[in-house]
Amino acid sequence: MAFEEKIKQLLDKREQAKLGGGVKRIEAQHAKGKLTARERIEILLDEGSFEEFDMFVTHRCTDFGMGDKTFLSDGVVTGYGTIDGRLVYVFSQDFTVFGGSLSESFAAKICKVLDQAMKVGAPVIGLNDSGGARIQEGVNSLAGYAEIFQRNIMASGVIPQISAIFGPCAGGSVYSPALTDFIMMSKENSYMYVTGPKVVKTVTGEDVTDAKLGGAMVHASKSGVTHFVVDTENEGLMLIRKLLSYMPSNNLEEAPLQVCNDPIDRLEDSLNTIIPDNPNQPYDVKDIIHAIVDEGEFLEVHRHFAANLVVGFARFNGVSVGIVANQPNYMAGVLDINSSRKGARFVRFCDAFNIPLVTLVDVPGFLCGTGQEYNGIITNGAKLLFAYGEATVPKITITLRKSYGGAHDVMSSKQLRGDINYAWPSAEIAVMGASGAAAILYGSELKNIESPEEKAKFVAEKEAEYTAKFATPYEAAKYGHIDDVIESRNTRFRVIRALQALATKKDQNPMKKHCNIPL
Ligand code: HXC
Repeated sequence: MAFEEKIKQLLDKREQAKLGGGVKRIEAQHAKGKLTARERIEILLDEGSFEEFDMFVTHRCTDFGMGDKTFLSDGVVTGYGTIDGRLVYVFSQDFTVFGGSLSESFAAKICKVLDQAMKVGAPVIGLNDSGGARIQEGVNSLAGYAEIFQRNIMASGVIPQISAIFGPCAGGSVYSPALTDFIMMSKENSYMYVTGPKVVKTVTGEDVTDAKLGGAMVHASKSGVTHFVVDTENEGLMLIRKLLSYMPSNNLEEAPLQVCNDPIDRLEDSLNTIIPDNPNQPYDVKDIIHAIVDEGEFLEVHRHFAANLVVGFARFNGVSVGIVANQPNYMAGVLDINSSRKGARFVRFCDAFNIPLVTLVDVPGFLCGTGQEYNGIITNGAKLLFAYGEATVPKITITLRKSYGGAHDVMSSKQLRGDINYAWPSAEIAVMGASGAAAILYGSELKNIESPEEKAKFVAEKEAEYTAKFATPYEAAKYGHIDDVIESRNTRFRVIRALQALATKKDQNPMKKHCNIPL
């Protein structure tokens, strides 16, 4: 064969590979409102930056007449490219080839990408759209999944791993995304479940749809499996680019510093009046976040799950930070099982990837009752406590209003190695709220007062006494549990100064095989 013909053969093969499962199946994919695997990569990566691996790989199965049914690339497109000029590795499952199902060769392609990403220290992005294990291959596809799982586990905390779900993700397919740092689902076309509706019907008799069992909103609001929900795949791919901008490429680096055009000493007068006089009145802590961070930009994570705790990424003077904030607007900002799980996972991500933590505290305590106790608020609350205590990144805490009881300790308190702990003048730092405290401290005296009017007067007096002593930041400041009481409108500047001071912070935990966080 002449050289020119060889080149032509190569180009023809490339064209063939690019067609995946063929024009008809691509049209069917588009008809569902879905992009193809290659279209997704093109949108995700910087223009022209994609370098593909293993385009000529095919499966090796001969059972069920598979010997003469092969497609170049075998249902997954893999390789590397850049996002904002930074190296990333990517795999994108191609539903047009055997429903994106996973064969042994398909798994080996994903493993190759994960292995190389680990060697060079670059993030891996997985775009999932798959019918699960390739049924014709049997145990080899199960083994392929496990090979991927093992690599996801080894990569955890070393390189960021992000999963987008843009189609079905069932059976074993769900566990690789579950082992990664962030999951995103598209609203219309994606679902995740271990067992699909048909099997559910035969096993439990329950009638349920794909969307109700494992749709994006179900996992965003009920299970917390997904961190982000997007209306379109395009929006999701842009969100991955943005999310990556807040994190370093690996655990030995720091997140890229961005140019900041927002004045560092910008005073935000509205913050001096944002806390209502009535301590039981809610406000939106996100208003405070937006007011203090660079350009008001905040990328919220887990927005639809456990809204009583807000977590997400922002920047102060161009430095990427993780923000954790109690949300008085939802369940008074109380800590419960779900919010503790949500916060712990976020804190641990930030700590693993050298992203400083800024914690805004307004917490009345832990949620009480049988519902919480039976489901393990003790173990789950301990997750957040553990995560903060274990974290060695710079930790800056601002107490806005309430900081009561065990929840005070949990929320990045001084004794959990909080580095700089400030309080607003509106802070109330105490063992419990005034009414609870008065009821316990003066219970026996109250029993002896017969008249309801006298009783009410006595309670009001004792509550006022307790409030005057403890519902302030100054008692905690007296003991050095907080470092300073700051003027609310100056919070942005004080946080930036604190981050500057802590930029060279070094702290470490004792050598151990791994910790035993209460799971
Ligand atoms: C081989 C598969 C496949 C699979 C789909 N296809 N899933 N081929 N193995 N797992 C093929 C179909 O035969 C079809 O081929 C094409 O992909 C498109 O599938 P459709 O069914 O036409 O598409 P749609 O109606 O959109 O339904 C998509 C689907 C459905 C919901 C994913 O295909 C489905 O239920 N697939 C099986 C899911 C499943 O049970 N997977 C195994 C899970 S067990 P043609 O040639 O007609 O286009 C598992 C264990 C792993 O994953 C455990 C590891 C720990």
